This record gives sequence, C-alpha cells and structure tokens, in this order.
Amino acid sequence: MIKIGVLASGRGSNFQSIIDSIDSGAIDAKVACLITDNPAAYAIERAKLHNIPHVYINPAGSKDIFYKTIAGELIACGVELVVLAGFMRVVKKPLIEAFPMRIMNIHPALLPSFKGLHAQRQALEYGVKIAGCTVHFVDEGVDTGPIILQEAVPVLSDDTEESLSARILECEHRIYPRAIKLYIEGKLSVTGNTVRIED
Ligand code: GRF
Repeated sequence: MIKIGVLASGRGSNFQSIIDSIDSGAIDAKVACLITDNPAAYAIERAKLHNIPHVYINPAGSKDIFYKTIAGELIACGVELVVLAGFMRVVKKPLIEAFPMRIMNIHPALLPSFKGLHAQRQALEYGVKIAGCTVHFVDEGVDTGPIILQEAVPVLSDDTEESLSARILECEHRIYPRAIKLYIEGKLSVTGNTVRIED
C-alpha cells in the first residue's frame, strides 16, 4: 500500500475527500502525514480526527531550508506520492527534486487558463462560459506541470465567485481521488508535458 503525504495550508476539503476515498476503499493508500505551513489550518483538525500525524513547518526564512525540511519529513514518513491540497505556496526545487513527477496539485481552473491565485474570480472577470478544475503534476512553474485530469462546469449568468467556487469544488473532490487512484494503479506515464492514461 503506498504512502501519501499531504501538504495543506487551510480548510482542507480536498484533503478530506482523499481521506474519505481511502476510508471507503476506493483508494488503496495511507496518508502517512499532513504537513502544513499554517498552525491554524483546519486541515490539522481533520488529521487529528483520523489519527494522521501532522507537522507544522514554519515557512519564515530561507525557502531552501523550508522545502528541504518538508522533503526530509516526507522521506522520513516513507511517502511515495506528495499531494498538494490547498497548499498556498509555489513549491521550490529541493522538494521537486526529491519527488520528481511524484507531486500532484489541484487548481480550480481549466489550465492553462487562469493560473495563480483567485482562479475562479479570474474566470468570472474574463467572462468564460465554461470553468473547471485541473489535477497536474508539479514542476517548477506556477500551475504549469503535466495535466492528469480535468473536469468542466458551466458558468451561470448569475454566478458569484462563491457560487462558481462551490460548483468547481464539487468536481475537485471527484477528480483528485481519481487522479491519485490512477497513479497508485501505475496507469500514468509522463512524456514531456503530456500524461498518458492507460485504460
Ligand atoms: C481549492 O480550491 C484548490 O483547488 C486550491 O485551493 C483550494 C483548497 O481548498 N488549490 P481546500 O483547502 O482543499 O478546501
């Protein structure tokens, strides 16, 4: 059974969807640790409820040391796959090099549109009619790595940032566990920027 390490900065609803998928037997994995850069993250409460070890790592100071410390913790926990679940930072080299093509992220937009912060607001301001979410492997860019799965939702004429975000979040909770399951089953292969999914 593979061990997953989750990095989260806040609410942790995607973290919860992964926990739920493991508990229901949909994913054959174990969350070996939650790492957070925010001691007030609600994700910590979720970890406690499920007896998942959690570690706060202070992000102040050298980014190099911060990411080396995270990589060290993940390696010490025996983690094979790293899952970013609302981790509000751009991951740097020391962590990426420790887990090449073994870090996933979820972004609340159909990449490559609307990278970075407030993706749902960007989509509304642009006036797109279709929005959605993307699970991708993490490289050194911001929301640029190879795309694993995407799901689209309509943008409705009376949508607010909140209503659109809620519609996208429902998809996030579906496709993140699905992408993790594909990884665990060895069905993902990456060539350049393209992820091939085996049937
Ligand atoms: C989600 O919208 C995710 O796509 C983005 O940050 C948000 C995290 O939400 N990366 P949660 O903490 O998983 O509830």
